[in-house]
Amino acid sequence: MAQRMLSDRVHGSLDYGELARLGLRPGDVIDFSANTFADGLPQRIAEALASTNVTHYPDREMEPARSELAACLGVGPRELAIGAGACSLLWRLVAMTPAGSTVGVVGPTFSEFRTAAIAHGRRVDEFCSDLGAPFALKVDDLVAWAGARERAAVYVCSPNNPTGTVLVPSDLQRIAAAVSPGILVVDEAYATPFAAPRPKRANDIVSLRSLTKILGCPGIRVGYLVAGADLCARLEQSRPTWSVGAHALTIVSTCCALVPELQERERRLKQAASALAEQLRERGVPCHQPGTPWLLARVGDGDTVRACLLERHRLLVRACASFGLAEWIRISPRLSPALDQRLISALLECVQTDA
Ligand SMILES: Cc1ncc(COP(=O)(O)O)c(C=O)c1O
Repeated sequence: MAQRMLSDRVHGSLDYGELARLGLRPGDVIDFSANTFADGLPQRIAEALASTNVTHYPDREMEPARSELAACLGVGPRELAIGAGACSLLWRLVAMTPAGSTVGVVGPTFSEFRTAAIAHGRRVDEFCSDLGAPFALKVDDLVAWAGARERAAVYVCSPNNPTGTVLVPSDLQRIAAAVSPGILVVDEAYATPFAAPRPKRANDIVSLRSLTKILGCPGIRVGYLVAGADLCARLEQSRPTWSVGAHALTIVSTCCALVPELQERERRLKQAASALAEQLRERGVPCHQPGTPWLLARVGDGDTVRACLLERHRLLVRACASFGLAEWIRISPRLSPALDQRLISALLECVQTDA
């Protein structure tokens, strides 16, 4: 059987191998495909990173970042785990589930939990929301599915990438109760930065957050989760020593002082996504924009339109076929009216060529 490569996994952001095949360099392309803040790092974090000492190993217990983050979130230092990106924490959560167990995924959604589960030999089953806009998630059906069989863990993303569906705390409590004694993993990579994890910490609900998106620094791998102390202790036991680098810990320590600035970033991103969706709709392109920092545009064949935008215009968007949404592309605004206009013109041209 042919070996699957890591590059076969479908995500937003640059695919360096693809760019090389097209004769493009990363700097040639404008990236609308990754849901990250376009204007880069806050000044204060850039300065803190520049003066980060890398001549020693970082603290094995990740102090003082752990205690600072705990204080910022209002939880105990042992009720959280810091990881090299939310992605690595997802893999560690999967690794904790018993060999041979089944895990569930609420789709269509971000694929890493499923990928990790398959890599670890877990069985995966899926509850799927409607695949047409507005991508309604029937919570009663989801609760019934969650309780219908034993699963070691169930993954939900809220707000969901890519559909934007949100599960409110009371829904999450009901789903968690149905999944119990398995754990409910709530990926809140796109929740308001530093808003209280929902619902509050419990041993069977994990709230997972990414710091790479809102800070505009996915090249530094940093994220965290909040859960009950028992679950966090088990996670800590299975992590490699020094698994989070000094730069990532600097980010954790520094960003707690920047909460209002990060929340303002979120507001700007959502406003830009909504404005871009409106402009596309005015030009006849159906869009789905549920208050997320991105929008979905229904363009016919998403893969073809993505290829056209990249190859002819050097603009990168995320085709959604891997989510089961082949007609859609996902676009994250770049916070520049000129770049947004460039994308709109190119997109209209590509959609017409494809029609
Ligand atoms: C829902 C979701 N969770 C987690 C991640 C990964 O975040 P990180 O960069 O912190 O690993 C992504 C990245 O696209 C995502 O969309």
